[in-house]
Amino acid sequence: MQVVTTIAELRAQLDPMRREGRSIGFVPTMGYLHQGHAALVQAARRECDVVVVSIFVNPLQFAPSEDYESYPRDPERDRGILAAAEVDFLFQPDVREMYPRPLLTQVSVPELSATLEGRTRPTHFQGVATVVLKLFHIVGPHRAYFGQKDGQQVAVVRRLIEDLDLPIDLRAVETVREPDGLALSSRNVYLSPEERQAAPCLHEALLQGREAALAGQGSRAVQAAIEERIRRTPLACLDYAAVVDPRTMQPKSDLTGPVMLAVAASLGRTRLIDNLVLEL
Ligand code: PAJ
Repeated sequence: MQVVTTIAELRAQLDPMRREGRSIGFVPTMGYLHQGHAALVQAARRECDVVVVSIFVNPLQFAPSEDYESYPRDPERDRGILAAAEVDFLFQPDVREMYPRPLLTQVSVPELSATLEGRTRPTHFQGVATVVLKLFHIVGPHRAYFGQKDGQQVAVVRRLIEDLDLPIDLRAVETVREPDGLALSSRNVYLSPEERQAAPCLHEALLQGREAALAGQGSRAVQAAIEERIRRTPLACLDYAAVVDPRTMQPKSDLTGPVMLAVAASLGRTRLIDNLVLEL
């Protein structure tokens, strides 16, 4: 695996490969890698000739009150994981390389970004869309891999690709979970032992919502079922439970076709999200 820290060097490496007709798969990450990230890398390895992973903790997508400074980082360990997964290139720029001057140009996908996560994190998806577009231009991938765990991020990036006619096939990879159902996340390390024990309540809440949906209940009842399970967990504080269209992120009252059940809750100071997509 080659570790590349500059845009110019990565382009110099990848341009000839692209010209030779080799397919490039790209997995953007913020590092502190776990089996969820590994699943994206494995999918890219299966489907593409050249696999590029980026590690960049993007300041643009963190609000001033959020955990940019303390976001967990372990570059040595990350490199070991990626080398073992037979990644070809690790792109690991620093902030000056990505943002050498104040960034005047940004992209946003407003309607998809305003609901759910956007309510508590109003600038988050603009930061994500901007860095992802920049990374797409730097890497020039044929396929890009994103985790369904961040379902709204998938919707935002999908729409960005469609609206701007980017020649990139977005591949959404299913959420990887701990045996007790907790979705893997770099932020799980923030949980105290008690909070960790309570954390599977998000997944359990979604399963309860799914049961209600499969039993033919309406979206309000499904949402109530999700809320009820979180409220029964003393350590968890519900942020939202929602039943939305997985492409538009808008509330869905008619439960047919693909439906996304989404939940966000805080355990202590850690905010967790999860979702399930159902085909009804
Ligand atoms: P990060 O949180 O590091 O996640 C990188 C990718 O891994 C995302 O596509 C995310 O959805 C996926 N992922 C995380 N946990 C997962 C799990 N349990 N199962 C499957 N996939 C999982 O998401 C970001 O970074 C950033 O916003 C980024 C896209 C890199 C832009 O800065």
